Amino acid sequence: MRIAMIGTGYVGLVSGACFSEFGTDVVCVDKDATKIARIQAGEMPIFEPGLDELVANNVKAGRLSFTTDLKEAVSGADAVFICVGTPSRRGDGHADLSFVYAAAEEIAHAIGRYTVIVTKSTVPVGTGREVEAIIRKARPDAEFDVVSNPEFLREGAAINDFMRPDRVVIGCESDRAEAVMRQLYRPLYLIETPIVMTRRETAELIKYAGNSFLAVKITFINEMADLCEKVGADVHDVARGIGLDGRIGRKFLHPGPGYGGSCFPKDTLAVVKTARDAGAPLRIVETVVEVNDLRKRAMADRVVTACGGSVEGKTVAVLGLTFKANTDDMRDSPALDILPALQAAGAAIRAYDPEGMGEARKLLPGIDFAEGAYAAMEGADAVVLITEWNEFRALDPRRMRRALKSPVVVDLRNVYDPAAMAEAGLEYTSIGRPLAA
Ligand code: UGA
Repeated sequence: MRIAMIGTGYVGLVSGACFSEFGTDVVCVDKDATKIARIQAGEMPIFEPGLDELVANNVKAGRLSFTTDLKEAVSGADAVFICVGTPSRRGDGHADLSFVYAAAEEIAHAIGRYTVIVTKSTVPVGTGREVEAIIRKARPDAEFDVVSNPEFLREGAAINDFMRPDRVVIGCESDRAEAVMRQLYRPLYLIETPIVMTRRETAELIKYAGNSFLAVKITFINEMADLCEKVGADVHDVARGIGLDGRIGRKFLHPGPGYGGSCFPKDTLAVVKTARDAGAPLRIVETVVEVNDLRKRAMADRVVTACGGSVEGKTVAVLGLTFKANTDDMRDSPALDILPALQAAGAAIRAYDPEGMGEARKLLPGIDFAEGAYAAMEGADAVVLITEWNEFRALDPRRMRRALKSPVVVDLRNVYDPAAMAEAGLEYTSIGRPLAA
């Protein structure tokens, strides 16, 4: 089997590397020649644990290569995966499909023998049909099928998510395409991965339904955390207490500053639009979008309150800027709402993030950056933890106390033990947990 991945973003690069690890010949294509040259030199465009090694090993084994030549890559391929970006369209929140359609057009002109075109990018219901129409129009003679195969990998755990998925979803309209897809995912049969083989529209919707449901779960526990604070309950025990019910499940019940990233905010918004247009509004998801937006902004108020009602003229240290740990991705990170709000309230910000500072420098003007966590806290009036990087978990509360000018700690990910914080003399606020006695 030989496949081409169009687009070397998160999904294209990780899936391409993983398919090659399974023994398939993979060519990854990108228009950006500098990016391709960098990857060829072993420099990954994204931070993803284990990716550089996986890419290097498979390049060495001759199964994985990178090119800007789409025509060459597609003409010899059994399957072509469209992995280009689908950002939110400015103004209306719909997914912007211009990159997907442009890729379809280019692929059409490059197809040689029978080819399965696979949409792996997150695309609204009906996109597969449209991609098929574009290719058919450009190449009435071509032999091809268009399949939906959404990706469920999480940034920071992407390789493991690809290699050991809970399930693979494939939306197919022909037996011939189904056979090619089954062949590609054959290595996963060994670990008994369930394959959900369904129609194309259904597969497209499964992706949105999955991400929306997870966003609902997170928002549910976030609101429950707010209630816990009011009534003196502990949200972690609530999460465990309900999560142990197999019908609910324990995952994605960790409270925080609101979900961010390149997927949940964009996908919830897009499915809300699709549903409205279809005359079947998803009112729960609409509310989740609104509640999550408000929550991110409300996190700055928490810091202000913890600082005694004002941050005017104060220095606030910030630990973590990325939307979650183990990524350098700043897209829709809660930090992008919290930091400007604190600045607007008169605070000076000194931030540190293990991987996100390069991106943050471009997105957050007027912020000072520190070399490390303790350096960020040195002489600050408060510290707020926004992202749960492992290196922040091990910070010594006594050293934190010594570094800070006033002992205010706002932990938006609940990584510290309230008792240990209190013992070190820190005034500690977290999410949905009673204060230490
Ligand atoms: C998410 C999904 O988890 C993947 O299955 C999906 O493939 C991907 O979107 C996508 O559509 O491409 P990702 O955005 O990488 O993956 O990150 P998650 O680990 O899901 O976290 C999303 C956000 O929710 C983060 O801001 C995280 O901090 C937050 N979150 C997650 C919580 O606040 N609480 C939780 O319990 C879990």
